Amino acid sequence: MLGIETSCDETGVALFDESEGLIKDLLYSQVDLHRDYGGVVPELASRDHIRKCLPMIDQALRETQTTPAQISAIAYTEGPGLIGALLVGASLAKSLALAWKVPAIGIHHMEGHLMSTQLTSDPPTYPFVALLVSGGHTQLMGCQAPGEYEILGESVDDAAGEAFDKVAKMLGLGYPGGPAVAKLATQGRSGQYRFPRPLTKKPGLDFSFSGLKTHTMNTLRKLPTRSDQDRADIALAFQEAVVDTIQIKCARALEKTGYPTLVLAGGVSANKHLRATLDRLSKERHIDIKYPELKFCTDNGAMIAIAGLLRKAQWSDCDHTIAARPRWPMNELSGLNP
Ligand code: KG4
Ligand code: ZN
Repeated sequence: MLGIETSCDETGVALFDESEGLIKDLLYSQVDLHRDYGGVVPELASRDHIRKCLPMIDQALRETQTTPAQISAIAYTEGPGLIGALLVGASLAKSLALAWKVPAIGIHHMEGHLMSTQLTSDPPTYPFVALLVSGGHTQLMGCQAPGEYEILGESVDDAAGEAFDKVAKMLGLGYPGGPAVAKLATQGRSGQYRFPRPLTKKPGLDFSFSGLKTHTMNTLRKLPTRSDQDRADIALAFQEAVVDTIQIKCARALEKTGYPTLVLAGGVSANKHLRATLDRLSKERHIDIKYPELKFCTDNGAMIAIAGLLRKAQWSDCDHTIAARPRWPMNELSGLNP
């Protein structure tokens, strides 16, 4: 299985073999390309995917001595994501599929993230509650069986990663913001500020991080001077508020479903404070907790390849239409059987 990820600012190419597992995983990050602009410039992202994707596929085949005849199927990210960036992966996948006479299956990016936890030696067993936290999504899902998802709650405005990125900008930190805020927070003094935990007083499993972002901005504005210590204290207060909010909602979702396992995935699941807090929750509640390896938290081709295997029953249904869906609510995702 060849996996191709091009939904945003990372070109990911991977080869996965059903018996040997992941045999190649190549990743090219466009961070340097977008840094000067403080965020992802969609047109530049698309052009760079065009430049990188095919040479990376060539490299993956060459380095594993795989011939096109050994490829059974191609999985690519169909959505959600940036339309131009998605179209690069989709058109390349469909063209190679036509040439190699194999199916090319479109994968939902968030199902890819969810499947990244299957790339570990000790993958989660169903049923479980999944927390998907990335730059574009914050979702709690009930996962009864492979491919059977129920959205329990989601962000009504900014995603957690997006809030991290925006707060990073306010603090004068670079892009991508999440790791930068987390790093600055390590210098912060706990208890200097206490930021709100949005939507935690009301019942329910939805998230809202937009107000917290404004609160952070207002706190910064009120400071006559902004010392490095102030900025670090604010980064810590912001991170604590996000993580605490997520933890409260995860506890509720576990209670509501009665599922014995919590699975984390998506870029923000790399956050150490989030992992430590949810580890504590899992011990208190006697539930199992599973994360992807750090390198598979953010976007990569391996998660798309393994999601393509999950959807094997649909391979026979693939046609040559080049499909990309910039918006694709996960509850519109079809079941595993066509
Ligand atoms: O999953 P991902 O690579 O792309 C999307 O599907 O959006 O996630 C990227 C997001 C960014 O918003 C980034 O700032 C955030 O994940 N992120 C983090 C950390 N590492 C990445 N946020 C907080 N702490 C981190 N250590
Ligand atoms: Zn992602």
